[in-house]
Amino acid sequence: MAVLQWWQTAVFYQIYPRSFADGNGDGIGDFIGMAQRLDYLKDLGVDALWLSPHFPSPQYDVGYDITDYTGVAPEYGTLDDFRRFLDGAHERGLRVILDLVLNHTSHLHPWFVESRSSRDNPKRDWYVWHPGRDGGLPNNWYSLFGGPAWELDPATGEYYYHMFLKEQPDLNWRNPEVKAAMWDAVRFWLDLGVDGYRLDAIGTVYEAADLRDHRSPITQEELRQAALTVDPNATNQWLRDAWKLMYSEQLEQDGVHALMQTNRLTPAWIRDNQRQRLAALPPGAWPCNTLGNHDTTRVYTRFADGAHDEALARLSLALILTLPGTPFLYNGEEIGMADYFLDDIRLFRDPPAIRLYEAAIAEGTPADTALRLAAQHSRDRCRTPMQWADAPNAGFSPAGVTTWLPVNPEYAPPPAGRGVSVAGQAADPGSMLSFYRALLRLRRDAPALVAGDYQPVAVERDDVFAFVRGGNNGHPACLVALNLTPLGVTADLSEAGPAACGLFLTTLGQRECEQDLTAFSLAPHGIYIGALTA
Ligand code: GLC
Repeated sequence: MAVLQWWQTAVFYQIYPRSFADGNGDGIGDFIGMAQRLDYLKDLGVDALWLSPHFPSPQYDVGYDITDYTGVAPEYGTLDDFRRFLDGAHERGLRVILDLVLNHTSHLHPWFVESRSSRDNPKRDWYVWHPGRDGGLPNNWYSLFGGPAWELDPATGEYYYHMFLKEQPDLNWRNPEVKAAMWDAVRFWLDLGVDGYRLDAIGTVYEAADLRDHRSPITQEELRQAALTVDPNATNQWLRDAWKLMYSEQLEQDGVHALMQTNRLTPAWIRDNQRQRLAALPPGAWPCNTLGNHDTTRVYTRFADGAHDEALARLSLALILTLPGTPFLYNGEEIGMADYFLDDIRLFRDPPAIRLYEAAIAEGTPADTALRLAAQHSRDRCRTPMQWADAPNAGFSPAGVTTWLPVNPEYAPPPAGRGVSVAGQAADPGSMLSFYRALLRLRRDAPALVAGDYQPVAVERDDVFAFVRGGNNGHPACLVALNLTPLGVTADLSEAGPAACGLFLTTLGQRECEQDLTAFSLAPHGIYIGALTA
């Protein structure tokens, strides 16, 4: 196997800057706070950090609407604060990648302000403008955040296209000036020493050139899932250009993306998902695995069944750290943070959720039902401040400060909460945090889990998901067996080899060697990772 690049062997940890660590006590996370937590991240055992956008933004989409691609939002600090954070990360051997939001800017970005100023402004063509059709909208496309994807700009009498909010006009990537301007911004951060980028909303960068109506009978919600309005060929070429710029002119590599999303952890589902995703990867491409981020329900909540929530969250981590591909973890997941449903619409910050609430009220839905609906769908549920301690504001901000989103009260020890805080779990060997640390350490010590081939075994089982990651360069192959049921099971895993030596086991005690694989027992929701012995 070819020598792997750092981003192929790394475990990434996503920081949501607004909610990670508040260094100046104003209720909003910032770079001073992030820098103070670098030792924590190093000790956790991750290798690289991905920051959600930290750029100046009017916050219509919590930072995904940018007004300056080479600046730092004042609430997060200064460029020097950023540098100190970056240097601190590098001193600890942690890489840092940024979020590259290219599909759109903020409507307040100077480029768009110019573009909308007149039909013949030199930046007019930097965005997607259209005079409209038959006196109406240019086509039948919808915004991913609801409503038509076109907004009439009264000053010049034309429509502009926005895949997301109307405050997020789409850039016209077919204009070479747009590309050049964005590449300059990309270089700015690379020159500062940033290690790479996460590409935001990458599937939507290029609109189908003829702006044709979509002819799908599916609903708007289904349309969210389908990339009907994008041009996949242009997108792939774009990815290749971006890749070359970021890594090297020689390197030819296709996209790195392949997300794994599921609400059910069943062996059949995972096997099938793996098969499809790995088969769909172009030659030379590399998968990346994530189960949670700032847009989705938190993994703790996603897989919870009300009775085995903690065990299921642990299984999801075992899965993501052992399947082939680069794992991405989301801040707070390591202490088992759950979704938090807001109970007052005035506290909401996520625009699509507020819109959902308003639409439901307009349709006559009772206020409490509308609120519940909005809270469950709101991305605010997974964006609440990181819980550092059993202290006011969970130690995120000082007592008495109003945080930008409310803190989830689960941080308090039982019975008031669930003891979901870093300080509350750090010294407890049985805690979720200790489990994360142990599994991250194990992955580092077992190269087969990073580089080995993937071979499912015992594929007839509907209770156990088991697979081998092949050994190489003198490293032993690893067997991973996950019991996804609440009952103890015994499985014949001898297809993997005659015996294995336990590296990590939730139930058997550490490092038990020479376990017979013909009748292999796993406790309820048991996790086993072993080195195969000859
Ligand atoms: C991506 C981001 C999401 C944002 C959207 C628009 O999907 O992850 O948070 O709202 O792009 O930028």
